[in-house]
Amino acid sequence: MLDLLHRPRRLRRTPALRAMVRQTSLQATDLIYPLFVHEEDRNEPIGSMPGCQRWCLDALGDEVGRAWDLGIRCVVLFPKVADGLKSEDGAECFNEGGLIPRAIRRLKAEHPHMVIMTDVALDPYSSDGHDGIVSPHGVVLNDETVEILCQQALAQARAGADLIGPSDMMDGRVEVIRTTLDDHGFTDVGIISYTAKYSSAYYGPFRDALDSAPRASGDKPIPTNKDSYQMDPANSREALIEADLDNGEGADILMVKPGLAYLDIVAKLRDKSTLPIAAYNVSGEYAMVKAAAERGWIEERPVVLETLLCFRRAGADLILTYHAPDAALWLRKG
Ligand code: PBG
Repeated sequence: MLDLLHRPRRLRRTPALRAMVRQTSLQATDLIYPLFVHEEDRNEPIGSMPGCQRWCLDALGDEVGRAWDLGIRCVVLFPKVADGLKSEDGAECFNEGGLIPRAIRRLKAEHPHMVIMTDVALDPYSSDGHDGIVSPHGVVLNDETVEILCQQALAQARAGADLIGPSDMMDGRVEVIRTTLDDHGFTDVGIISYTAKYSSAYYGPFRDALDSAPRASGDKPIPTNKDSYQMDPANSREALIEADLDNGEGADILMVKPGLAYLDIVAKLRDKSTLPIAAYNVSGEYAMVKAAAERGWIEERPVVLETLLCFRRAGADLILTYHAPDAALWLRKG
């Protein structure tokens, strides 16, 4: 026998002991469910995101109702905008009769208690496929973009959005959106800021889903990536600068994106900020799990539940994940 004073395995011996000392929990209210919507009158599956669809507005309400019944309390909406409605300045983003405002109004009528979160950025509406306006010289313009983003946020708030999610990474946008919302009486509409959003290859399937990747148009030199505004994956202290700014500008919740390869950033923000922290388990991460599970190389259910629990352990209060309804169902079944 070894002469051991400490045997950590004592507390791992039975399920009851393990439950007593478990430090992290996961429940459906921790999850935010992203949903893609389009103008067509049928749902359309998304090839690189098995199990996800572009929802037609007629079917969206039922899916949101299903999520509510599973215990999910927040959904975030992303639009696939028809090519004919895209423009260089993305002005369709603040059309109050546009796809997203209409979707919000319907959902608020059908499911008034579900928290509706929106995305603020130009990419689904931009003929250049960027989150901001691209100048004739190929520069993504900051201040000009922020003006349009404010109008977009206002249109979403007017339609009934509860949480506005600026995902564009323009400087100063949180403060100007906050002021705009307040000036128009929307003091109760919150801002969940994409605080540390990295320029990542993990967004590929999402850009397929919305057909929103940067693209060449005419003679204008269009940057092929988002490196001039999204963060460099090599940097971590920079996330703290962004967090300080968003905190000072009036954000209610801070977000880190992508998730899994960035859990160190989640932990850092958790340590340094007193605000709730969200993490985005993005499309590429979802696609990898789905692909491996389809091949029988991993078991989907335990992998997903472990992954989401680890987001919580790293310090995320909230997790945006396409697995949300499946995970909520599995959590319910125990
Ligand atoms: C748009 C936006 C993106 C995502 C959320 N909002 C894509 C991007 O920045 O190119 C990605 C989400 C995902 O991959 O699941 N600004």
